Amino acid sequence: MVELRQAIVVALGLCTGFGPTARAVAADPPSKAPNFGGVVNTRHNLTQSFLGVDAGWMDLSRNDYGEVCIYCHTPHGANREIAAPLWNRTQRATTYATYDQVGTGSLTQSVTQPGANSLTCLSCHDGQTAVDSVINMPGSGGYAAGQETGQSDAFLNAWPDGPGGSFFGGHGTLDNSPGALAQFGACQSCHSINGDQYDAATTPAFDIFFIETDLRNDHPVGLQFPGDSPDFNGGTVDFGKLRFFDSDGDGRPDPDEVRFYDTGEGFEVECASCHDPHGVPSNGPGSTFNPTFLRIANAGSSLCLSCHIK
Ligand code: HEC
Ligand code: HEC
Ligand code: HEC
Ligand code: HEC
Ligand code: HEC
Repeated sequence: MVELRQAIVVALGLCTGFGPTARAVAADPPSKAPNFGGVVNTRHNLTQSFLGVDAGWMDLSRNDYGEVCIYCHTPHGANREIAAPLWNRTQRATTYATYDQVGTGSLTQSVTQPGANSLTCLSCHDGQTAVDSVINMPGSGGYAAGQETGQSDAFLNAWPDGPGGSFFGGHGTLDNSPGALAQFGACQSCHSINGDQYDAATTPAFDIFFIETDLRNDHPVGLQFPGDSPDFNGGTVDFGKLRFFDSDGDGRPDPDEVRFYDTGEGFEVECASCHDPHGVPSNGPGSTFNPTFLRIANAGSSLCLSCHIK
């Protein structure tokens, strides 16, 4: 079956071959996402509608649900296993290796497993779960409670095949390990600098976006913010389960304000402390989003300096 899929893809002229081979790669092509206005115009629009007809490429490895929010949220039947807003994604039980950069042992705070406001991101970015693995598909009937904690390919394949559906039942993950490359649905079978199919002229490499389950080489998450101290800024405001730097003094946590989440262990740094997955305008409504979904553009390290005094 795998060979057949590959033969068809090659015959369609979509790719040149499979399997990791070392190759020299030019700079990545710029993103085609316009990156302003809303999440629909970002790489987090998994319908990829901003690619126009070229979005058909993605039908090889994910269902096109034709809606932006649905890959992450559903109005009904949301995941009951995670404290995340109307969350529509499969959350597998996973143990992550946590930050301890070559045993520096210099942290003042203890690192725990990532909290809900990191697990949401990791449900795609750790490469364990397909990007289209939802609990409740658009329309009636496409609901499976079992999807809350496990990915059923049979359920996902019930979404109609053909343009807009996933051809041949491919459901890609961001995993770029050799095993996943051999698996046809892997996004990295086209989007990896180590993949044979990477066409540097058109297809961006996504290797660095694959965070994996090993978080030892990532900025620590799941740890408390020391706050007012010689090393860290104070000046935070509390708002329910959020603590944030209220830079405009309006008393509410705005997207461009770095924040901490209390999901039972006190206010902690999580992925969404620094990133907003919907995009944050760099200069008021309608302006280009900050790069990489950051809450504060990191020019001059201003994101880092909002917490650290260095
Ligand atoms: C790629 C995944 C993703 C997509 C697509 C997405 N969201 Fe979200 N959304 C999230 C995550 C993750 C959170 C929780 C953020 C946090 O931890 O603070 C969230 C939070 C929210 C919240 C509550 C907190 C807030 O920021 O206001 C609302 C409302 C929301 N999303 C609406 C939407 C709507 C409407 C769409 C479609 C137009 C959408 N989202 C698309 C991932 C996504
Ligand atoms: C539904 C799956 C999904 C979820 C949930 C998700 N992402 Fe992504 N994310 C992607 C995909 C797919 C891309 C584009 C391909 C890539 O860059 O690997 C991406 C790209 C990104 C990028 C690069 C953007 C750019 O313009 O270069 C960042 C940063 C990112 N995600 C952070 C996050 C954070 C932080 C969260 C949680 C708040 C999150 N993502 C949740 C799937 C997801
Ligand atoms: C068969 C090869 C192939 C596979 C598999 C594939 N893609 Fe793509 N993808 C492409 C090509 C080619 C483009 C660029 C199209 C263009 O130039 O307009 C692209 C573009 C994208 C873009 C837009 C990049 C940008 O910012 O301009 C995103 C995001 C993306 N793919 C995500 C994914 C995800 C997520 C998966 C796995 C579910 C995946 N792709 C699987 C071939 C593929
Ligand atoms: C302390 C702030 C902070 C936290 C916490 C954080 N990030 Fe990031 N992240 C950044 C910055 C800054 C960049 C931009 C790096 C660059 O431009 O190379 C980034 C870049 C990324 C990228 C794009 C790949 C890259 O290296 O450029 C992804 C994907 C991403 N983050 C996902 C996550 C996920 C998932 C989590 C939680 C496990 C997370 N981030 C936690 C600050 C943070
Ligand atoms: C949301 C607040 C916040 C932001 C933003 C932030 N950090 Fe951190 N950072 C922390 C906390 C809290 C710790 C843990 C400190 C401790 O335990 O002593 C930490 C730890 C670190 C460490 C590890 C120190 C050690 O002893 O091993 C480094 C290095 C670091 N941050 C660099 C950065 C950089 C670079 C940026 C910007 C890309 C950044 N941080 C942005 C809160 C933040």
